Amino acid sequence: MSSQDIPEENLPAEQDATVAVADEKHPFADPGLPPHEHRIQDIDERAAKRSERTVALLFTASMLATVGFIASFVTIPHDKSIFVFPIGHLNALNFALGLTLGGALFCIGAGAVHWARTLMSDVEVADERHPIEASPEVKAKVMADFKQGAKESALGRRKLIRNTMFGALALFPLSGVVLLRDLGPLPGTKLRHTLWSKGKLLVNMNTNEPLRPSDVAVGSLTFAKPEGLEEHDHEFQTEIAKAALMIVRLQPADIKDKRELEWSHEGIVAYSKICTHVGCPISLYEQQTHHALCPCHQSTFDLADGARVIFGPAGHALPQLRIGVNDEGYLEALGDFEEPVGPAFWERG
Ligand code: FES
Repeated sequence: MSSQDIPEENLPAEQDATVAVADEKHPFADPGLPPHEHRIQDIDERAAKRSERTVALLFTASMLATVGFIASFVTIPHDKSIFVFPIGHLNALNFALGLTLGGALFCIGAGAVHWARTLMSDVEVADERHPIEASPEVKAKVMADFKQGAKESALGRRKLIRNTMFGALALFPLSGVVLLRDLGPLPGTKLRHTLWSKGKLLVNMNTNEPLRPSDVAVGSLTFAKPEGLEEHDHEFQTEIAKAALMIVRLQPADIKDKRELEWSHEGIVAYSKICTHVGCPISLYEQQTHHALCPCHQSTFDLADGARVIFGPAGHALPQLRIGVNDEGYLEALGDFEEPVGPAFWERG
């Protein structure tokens, strides 16, 4: 349908297309505006309705894409791959997230453009050039134009568009919110517990054999892990980073801390090997002074005095593991550490 087929009374009012002639002050004649072409939506309400439904459909598609984004994030495993012709094998989660996020943004943009091109006011306005500095009158006119534009966008009248647009815009930021979950699963109480529990044998990390008191000589430094934790285990690195032990044997008379003496066996004490500064493994021991030294920033702990910090940036003593000997004569834990091992963290309280 062209504007020639429309009854005269249905056509919007013609715009003023005044043509100025050249004179001395304006040496070039103003050609004026070309004849105005009416859009089909301006003269046919059914076409306007079709455009309205298209815009609403695009905003609705954006909402569905955002929901799809969240559903993909929650349901698709991180390690799943898919074949996409002609690109090849791709990570399924990344592909789905990119597709749905891109789709959601595209549909909002396409809906807004289609709305502006087909339904918003189609009046062509010629404005004279003017100084850049805006006068109060210009500012007032801008505000008036803005209000007029808001009125002509029919935001109040076309409720379907308005509601779906608000829905799409309100839902879209949720994509960013769910991505925050990628900062990692919350640790819960995992940092408070290790694999140590009552009856777990202390296993020499070098020989992989359970330790007897006779294996630990005075002045030696032995590293131990919990029985059952093997290097090929999936969680080995995670668990050993919390459960690694330093075993030393002191003369019981040299132990100054009463609780340390109670938690030891014949002078054998077991302390966390993980430095309480930023978590380096402690590996140096001075048998004369009973000092354990962290190689990272030189924090020094007195193993004869509750492993308190005597030098360096560490904030607190090394946690001690209470140990004993089982019926078969092997060193065993009498429980888990009573405080979190390693660096301080906000839940330590
Ligand atoms: S990590 Fe041990 S002193 Fe810094």
